[in-house]
Amino acid sequence: MIIGIANAKGGVGKTTVAVHLTSWLNEHRWKACLVDSDFQCLSSRWLESANPTIPTYVINSPEQIVIELSNLSGQFDAVVVDAPGGLGEITGAILSQADALLIPTGPSNLDILALDWATSTVHEVQRLRNGLPQTAIIPVQADPRRLTTRNLIAKARGLGFGVTQSVVPYREIYAQAAGLANRPPSLLWQLGTSRRVRQASLELDSLFQEVFPEACEDDPNRIAKLVSRNRKTKQTENNNDQKLAANS
Ligand SMILES: Nc1ncnc2c1ncn2[C@@H]1O[C@H](COP(=O)(O)OP(=O)(O)O)[C@@H](O)[C@H]1O
Ligand SMILES: [Mg+2]
Repeated sequence: MIIGIANAKGGVGKTTVAVHLTSWLNEHRWKACLVDSDFQCLSSRWLESANPTIPTYVINSPEQIVIELSNLSGQFDAVVVDAPGGLGEITGAILSQADALLIPTGPSNLDILALDWATSTVHEVQRLRNGLPQTAIIPVQADPRRLTTRNLIAKARGLGFGVTQSVVPYREIYAQAAGLANRPPSLLWQLGTSRRVRQASLELDSLFQEVFPEACEDDPNRIAKLVSRNRKTKQTENNNDQKLAANS
């Protein structure tokens, strides 16, 4: 399966979703790789830092995308493609190959205008490809209690798109996962034990479970267990530190 993550707008969370989705699929024992088609190469560098065992490929010519996505889909259960912002030829090539298209979309009117702009392109590809790619809007940096998010959901449905029930709220911890001055990029569920790490990890987990229920049939609590294992490891480390301090 080829899964494109795209939006005509930049800065909406495509890379954040792509990196975590690829890792999430691997956690659920799907053989998934990441294709980074953005010249900035941010998603491939992020995932290589967070989990070097997951294959990443930088492919950013439209011709190569068409050839390589089809090759890779024969080798992997899932190929997650992080698109650049814009509706250029690279995004067009991804749309021509993807089985599923996720469109992370912010709730402001600027995001909605970008969605409006992309709609005819996506629908035209779907018409030519018998309904593919299957498409869902993911409300990102969103809150269903807020007017702008409700407006986005109504507008997206009006444009003929499915919208995920799960939304990704605006949280500092999502930005921190991309790295800090003294900390390399990592995945949310590698960030330790705090309530906000658990909260955000489970938000992404429920989003991915909603969109790919078949991938997590083996163990729907996998991410929850991962985060609590971090907590236990941290507690053990703290206990050991206390014992060492007491003995010194
Ligand atoms: N849910 C979120 N809450 C807060 N900041 C976020 C969230 N998702 C992404 N970000 C931050 O927003 C910026 C853009 O995200 P990114 O995933 O790179 O978007 P894109 O790939 O669409 O340009 C980055 O600084 C990222 O860390
Ligand atoms: Mg990006």
